[in-house]
Amino acid sequence: MAELIVALDFDKAEDAYCLAKKIKGEVSWVKIGLELFLAEGPSIVKKFKTMGFNVFLDLKLYDIPNTIKGAVNSAIKTGADMLTIHLSGGKRMCEAALETCSMNNATIQIFGVSVLTSFDEGEFIGYQGKLSELVDSLAKNALDWGVNGIVCSGLEVEKIKNLAPGLKCLTPGIRFDEKNNDDQKRVMTPYQAVMAGSDYLVVGRPITKAEDPQAVAKKINDEIKKAMIAKNK
Ligand code: C5P
Repeated sequence: MAELIVALDFDKAEDAYCLAKKIKGEVSWVKIGLELFLAEGPSIVKKFKTMGFNVFLDLKLYDIPNTIKGAVNSAIKTGADMLTIHLSGGKRMCEAALETCSMNNATIQIFGVSVLTSFDEGEFIGYQGKLSELVDSLAKNALDWGVNGIVCSGLEVEKIKNLAPGLKCLTPGIRFDEKNNDDQKRVMTPYQAVMAGSDYLVVGRPITKAEDPQAVAKKINDEIKKAMIAKNK
C-alpha cells in the first residue's frame, strides 16, 4: 500500500506540532526537512516519534564519504525511519551511508535523491540531456549500490520500476491541479502517482496551507486507496 508523507516545512516546532495534531489519525508519516531541522535541532525527530509518527528525515546529504559516515551515524541516533542522500554524490558516498547503517544494525531506510522535481529540462547545471534519462541512469546506480529507494517525480516512476525493480519510489511534486504547482515542475495527481507505482507520496503545501489539512490528507488517502484497488483488479 502506498503511503502519504506530510512535509512539515515550518521554521517553528510549534507550527509543526499544530499541523501534526490536525492530521494525526489520517497520516502516519511526517517529513522533517532542512528548515525545521536546522531551526529546532535533532531532538525534534524524537518529539514526532513520541507523537506516534514515522519520521522521514529529508536532509539530502552530499559530502565526502567519511563525513557522510559521521552524518548518517548522527541521523541514526535521532531515531528517524528514513533519510535522504544525493545519488549524485556517487558510489563511494552512497556505500559509506549504507555501511554505516549495517555497522549499527540500523533499520533506517536510505533513499537517494535523483533530480529535484523543481528542475525543468535544461536547468540541471552541466547536463544537456533529457532529465528522464539522467534519472534512469541514477536509478540503475541506486539499485547496484543497494540503497532502499529513490526520490523522483511521479512521471518517472513507471520506467524506474521496470529498470530497477525492488527500488522503492518516493515522489514529491504531487498536486491535484496543474495550475497550482507552486515551484514544482514535474507534477502528478496522487491517483496518477500510485497508478505509476509510487510507494510514498510526499505532500507539503497542498496540506500545510489548506484551511482543513485533515480533509485534504483524507482526499489524498482516498485517491491512494482508489488507485490501489484499480491496480489490483
Ligand atoms: O509543498 P510541496 O508539496 O511542493 O513539498 C514537497 C516536499 O518534498 C518539500 O518538502 C520538498 O523539500 C520535498 N522534495 C521535493 N523534491 C525532491 C525531494 C524532496 O520537492 N526531489
